Amino acid sequence: MMLGAASTISLVKSNGENLGHFSSPAVSPVARSSKAVTGGRNRLVAAEVSKSTNHRPTSGVVFEPFEEVKELMLVPTGPQESLARHKFMDETEAAINEQINVEYNVSYVYHSLYAYFDRDNVALKGLAKFFKDSSQEEREHAERFMGYQNMRGGKVKLQSIVMPLTEFDHPEKGDALHAMELALSLEKLVNEKLLHLYSVAERTNDVQLTDFIDGFLKEQVEAIKKIAEYVAQLRRVGKGHGTWHFDQALLA
Ligand SMILES: [Fe+2]
Repeated sequence: MMLGAASTISLVKSNGENLGHFSSPAVSPVARSSKAVTGGRNRLVAAEVSKSTNHRPTSGVVFEPFEEVKELMLVPTGPQESLARHKFMDETEAAINEQINVEYNVSYVYHSLYAYFDRDNVALKGLAKFFKDSSQEEREHAERFMGYQNMRGGKVKLQSIVMPLTEFDHPEKGDALHAMELALSLEKLVNEKLLHLYSVAERTNDVQLTDFIDGFLKEQVEAIKKIAEYVAQLRRVGKGHGTWHFDQALLA
């Protein structure tokens, strides 16, 4: 229906009697229909808007949008309440906040790994870059969940993040392999947390949230595969000259 175009409104009584139709000037269809339902002496069960003809319902089912909206109270009035929130459970909101915390924690660990490999006496610049980029990526994930929480009318509640380790050398494995194995474990942990969030969304019948998480799950298995390959390669090359070549390849 085009706004601004004059059109015809047909009114139907609950007993099916057609009260006729009238033309109105340029007013929105919603405004015209609302007026028609509440303004007459007889209770009207439908206000059908059409440009030229009266289309009577043929299925016998009459949608009563204005009656239903009144009953459901879809727009809250409290100043602290979200206006957008709809079919969004408290449990789901809490689970999203937990996921934000997981993403921040992993981002923090990767940031610590960046700082370690960037030291002058470690100087593996490829690994430093890899972990800096990974840290930013996890932070972006946290922010995407924050945006989603706000979109659904939830409240973001940031929680504490744990102080990460600062030393990553390992007597047998060396620092590069040790760090990459740690990263692989973290990515698998994030995957577990995402699957948990997905299960909460399923349990609360939140199809919109499961749809949102789908993209993260795909990215997560791709990240696990990539880091698993890095672990395999570092196990082959040893912790000396081979690790230096591996690090150079990360800069390419
Ligand atoms: Fe992530």
